[in-house]
Amino acid sequence: MGHFVYLNDGVVPAAEAKVSVFDHGFLYGDGIYETMRVYDGVVFLLDEHLQRLCRSASLIGLDVPKDIPGIKRALYETLRANGLRNAYVRLTVSRGYGQIGLDPGLCKEPTFVIIANEFKPYPSALYENGISLIIASTRRNLKEALDPQIKSLNFLNNILAKIEAQRADAYEAVLLNAAGHLTEGTISNLFFVKEGVLCTPAVECGILDGITRALVVGLAVRSGIELREGEFLPGDLYGASEVFVTNTTMEIMPVSRVDAARFTVGHVAGLLHTQYRHEVNGYVSEKKGEGPSLWQ
Ligand code: PDD
Repeated sequence: MGHFVYLNDGVVPAAEAKVSVFDHGFLYGDGIYETMRVYDGVVFLLDEHLQRLCRSASLIGLDVPKDIPGIKRALYETLRANGLRNAYVRLTVSRGYGQIGLDPGLCKEPTFVIIANEFKPYPSALYENGISLIIASTRRNLKEALDPQIKSLNFLNNILAKIEAQRADAYEAVLLNAAGHLTEGTISNLFFVKEGVLCTPAVECGILDGITRALVVGLAVRSGIELREGEFLPGDLYGASEVFVTNTTMEIMPVSRVDAARFTVGHVAGLLHTQYRHEVNGYVSEKKGEGPSLWQ
């Protein structure tokens, strides 16, 4: 089947999905995005992702050119056009076409794009053995300079950290904030277990409040796992008994190494991942049980 992309008002063949070189998303990284996972034809936690999209849009003064039901229709139309049931979906809204200059008023219409691809599972060896991390020397953008709650197209800060990870043969990089506290990975949130307590940097440390993170926090609380959201130092991470990262596509990914410190894949990550999968299954059957739906 050919590959289709949603561009502005409808689905078009991917080869025809072109955006202007004057698009301010291209010129200035002026725009926002969300990444979602589709399980068995259902977009997982869609309302949460759309809420975050709207928050990002409002934080940069951008009007998303569709309402929530319209975005949902567009998402499912894209999935249907591509015949996808297990997918990775990226929704991007940029400031749109406009002459050169920072003024958002130069752009009359935002550009709205949905790309959906088949979800290629991460190799199971990564879940079995864990991934390696480094703590990058690149610091996380100061939250007072660029609010990490804006899931923006401007990813250079994280890309620089990713380049460091690649040079060190690591899979993901953790960034520290200006105060030297742990924040998050380049595309993931960070968790570790220390003295039986599940720890994760607080939102105030300057992180994106990941949707997977919030779900994992809720699952941990429900399971009676003691949880601490706060400020942590690299030494806390090196001294952990287990480490894992979370995001929409990886779900819960165990970590085997952070710099020189080694970890075995622990039971907290395993337990939470089982519960996470259970949550996904429950969500999918609930959505399918809601009657006439977008995904049929
Ligand atoms: N990234 N922190 C950052 C900087 C991220 O970019 C992401 C997500 C997360 C995890 O958020 P969530 O659990 O809501 O996916 C944390 C997505 C996957 C991406 O960049 O495509």
